Amino acid sequence: MTVEVRPLADGEVRAAHTLFRASLHRGPMSDEQWETFVDSFEPGRTHGAFDGDRLVGTALAWSSDLRVPGGAVLPMAAVTRVGVRADFRRRGALRALMGVQLADVARRGEVFAGLHASEAGIYGRFGYGVATRSQRMAAKGARLRPGVPFGGSVRVVDAGDKVIFDLYAAVGRAGVGTIARPAAMWKNYERAWAIKENLVTAVHTGPGGDDGFVTWRPVESEGFEQHVLQVEDFVAADAGAAYALWDFLFSLDLVERVRVWQRPVDEALQAAVVDPRTVTVEGVEDDLWVRVVDVPAALAARAYRPGDPVVVEVLDPLLEANSGRYVIGPGGAERTGAEAAVAVDAEVLAMVYLGGWTWTALAAAGRVQVRDPDAPAALDRLFAVDRAPFTGTYY
Ligand SMILES: CC(C)(COP(=O)(O)OP(=O)(O)OC[C@H]1O[C@@H](n2cnc3c(N)ncnc32)[C@H](O)[C@@H]1OP(=O)(O)O)[C@@H](O)C(=O)NCCC(=O)NCCS
Repeated sequence: MTVEVRPLADGEVRAAHTLFRASLHRGPMSDEQWETFVDSFEPGRTHGAFDGDRLVGTALAWSSDLRVPGGAVLPMAAVTRVGVRADFRRRGALRALMGVQLADVARRGEVFAGLHASEAGIYGRFGYGVATRSQRMAAKGARLRPGVPFGGSVRVVDAGDKVIFDLYAAVGRAGVGTIARPAAMWKNYERAWAIKENLVTAVHTGPGGDDGFVTWRPVESEGFEQHVLQVEDFVAADAGAAYALWDFLFSLDLVERVRVWQRPVDEALQAAVVDPRTVTVEGVEDDLWVRVVDVPAALAARAYRPGDPVVVEVLDPLLEANSGRYVIGPGGAERTGAEAAVAVDAEVLAMVYLGGWTWTALAAAGRVQVRDPDAPAALDRLFAVDRAPFTGTYY
């Protein structure tokens, strides 16, 4: 028996979404919920896996993009809502969906696919690697030190105020690893806002205008006095805007603790507060898993630091057109017939591509085939980035 995968017609998408929700142990949406949620599907981008004429699995993508080192922004398929029927697990439905979806992404000229993984053991085999990571933080009784440079003002807006749609596009994309939030993805946010109570959004205005926002809600409240605030979205154009927003969160009354679940791993909040123990890093987690779908285009588009060129072999049996050797140097990257100094699979290429992991560390972990022992350090010099890549957009 073979599973067949094809794009779903608009009229089939609701059944696919019901299947996806069931894979997350949730029931179907009501007609009323579906009425607004249907806009969160981009036409033609939901795939269905069929056993005969029975829908057994689904996956969708949104048209997004990804900022890479050097500043280029390249098209990326934001993959989500991946699910397979409980009674059809481990029979190849996901494998079939991934194969067809990646071929579709390639056909559309998208250089990357990106997703957030429900479980870390699933996607590496399809060439997805952890390209950005984030830290989960909690602050209790924290205050910023007097010398922390920030200013401006903060205003609270209505929860779900669409001002943040444009604001994200204008100020949220400075960093490597950030992605576009297309209209259909915002619909997903709106759905989440609709079912979460007491959401609050605050916008920061700096010297050049609005330059950041946070959205939070109280959780684990005890009586009227003490609340834990869970920050769900934290976007800042630069460090000044980020510290201004932290300062605002620290200043709120009746708050026992502030928790933020995604911040850049190199944000030095503990160094910016009076007592470093008032800020806890609760964990460092995988953020965006990236699949390099068009390796020549991706390697050619990012910037490299000064250093000796190195030949890298990419092994990509799933998207065979990517396989081959590439010479990478300060001037860029292109295919070559020369001998390779290292070889990597698509997953490891995705991990090093944005600078989130070093070649030497992954070589030490046995993830890079090293043919020239000097090559990992030489590649680290070429791939070095100023800031840790960070996505900070969960979907
Ligand atoms: C995860 C899920 C989509 C997998 O679907 P599936 O059709 O059972 O997967 P397949 O049979 O195609 O398996 C493909 C490969 O992935 C592996 N795999 C599948 N699910 C896995 C998991 N949860 N953890 C580790 N490996 C997994 C299989 O062992 C198989 O490996 P191999 O071919 O390399 O030997 C399905 O279990 C599901 O719907 N889970 C709940 C919803 C969910 O987590 N969705 C993902 C959202 S990001």
